[in-house]
Amino acid sequence: MSQTSIDRDRRAMRLAILASREARKHARPNPWVGAVFVGRDGEVSSGATRPPGGSHAEVVARDRCNFDLKGSTLYVTLEPCSHHGKTPPCAEMLIKEGVSRVVIGSLDPDERVSGMGVKLLEDAGIEVELGLLASEIRADLAPYLVHRQLRRPFTLLKVAATLDGFIAAPDGSSKWITGEESRKEVARLRAYSDVLITGAGTVRVDDPSMRAHGYEDQSPRRIVLGEISPEAKINPATSFRGDIGELMANLGEEGAIVAMVEAGAKVAKSFLDQGLVDQINLFLAPKFLGGSDGISIFDGTGASNISKSYNFDIATSNRRGSDIELVLRSKWLSAFIEGA
Ligand SMILES: NC(=O)c1ccc[n+]([C@@H]2O[C@H](COP(=O)([O-])OP(=O)(O)OC[C@H]3O[C@@H](n4cnc5c(N)ncnc54)[C@H](OP(=O)(O)O)[C@@H]3O)[C@@H](O)[C@H]2O)c1
Repeated sequence: MSQTSIDRDRRAMRLAILASREARKHARPNPWVGAVFVGRDGEVSSGATRPPGGSHAEVVARDRCNFDLKGSTLYVTLEPCSHHGKTPPCAEMLIKEGVSRVVIGSLDPDERVSGMGVKLLEDAGIEVELGLLASEIRADLAPYLVHRQLRRPFTLLKVAATLDGFIAAPDGSSKWITGEESRKEVARLRAYSDVLITGAGTVRVDDPSMRAHGYEDQSPRRIVLGEISPEAKINPATSFRGDIGELMANLGEEGAIVAMVEAGAKVAKSFLDQGLVDQINLFLAPKFLGGSDGISIFDGTGASNISKSYNFDIATSNRRGSDIELVLRSKWLSAFIEGA
């Protein structure tokens, strides 16, 4: 393949990625997909997933087309579906329209698709290419992919800490470690989550409302581990006591794709110990408590030797006003994103 064709493919897939990001807010529990058709004469039509019950990205892009799709190439971030759900299978539509080539970012691990979309297309004689810009696409789609693969929500732990690694002072006070820009980002993360999980300890000390301030209509459902007062500002919230692995499996079953854990050291440690932390959004403020008696990020006994530490990868680092946000991926998540 010539460099010009590779560049053309990458440009078209980038357009599909941009389209997919528009759908991220409203597509859940469905995947936020972007699709771009490029016609034989270079005409372009793009689309993204509509809210649940609405059209898939491929259909949106087709319906916007003012050119013949016969002989066209489709660039799509996720494998076209092969099953009859609320809408007919996209793979069949592509075959009917006479598309000749389909370039796909990632396979869809959903058991109703899982390679079947590719097979349908190939069996119909369509040329299929898999994996273009896959790392970028799989990172964007990670919450959906993790949910379908592990049948539990993608779990993001938010931590606001001083540079010496404390989430609260010895008296329990933590308002505010970080500045306004970090707190705005936390509100955005809440708005992108389906459930927000905290601990009774945090509710007792801080009495937070844990709403997505600025995104009021998008505040996630709140779950508190342990019992809390009916007067607590976090209400309405569900109290849960029991195995958090089971809780996460039940939430996955209910269709929760993203769970944000915003809690104190005990709950954070429980999630870490059970291997339930996919990503940590660590907001570091340029301040020190200056001693060893503050509340650490994780409670209890940690690794006894440096070789046993919990290792993460830095996915991104972002300046948030005077703070730094590190987005840390678990090693498992990094490998999963790099997978096919
Ligand atoms: N800087 C930050 O990002 C941040 C965020 C949140 C909180 N904080 C700070 O963290 C401090 C509170 O920390 P914390 O460790 O006491 O509270 P926590 O982790 O929020 O809550 C711990 C409590 O949750 C209950 N619980 C129920 N199931 C649990 C499970 N599976 N694992 C762990 N806990 C479970 C227990 O309540 P019972 O005791 O009733 O059994 C436990 O004592 C506060 O000072 C707060 O300001 C800081």
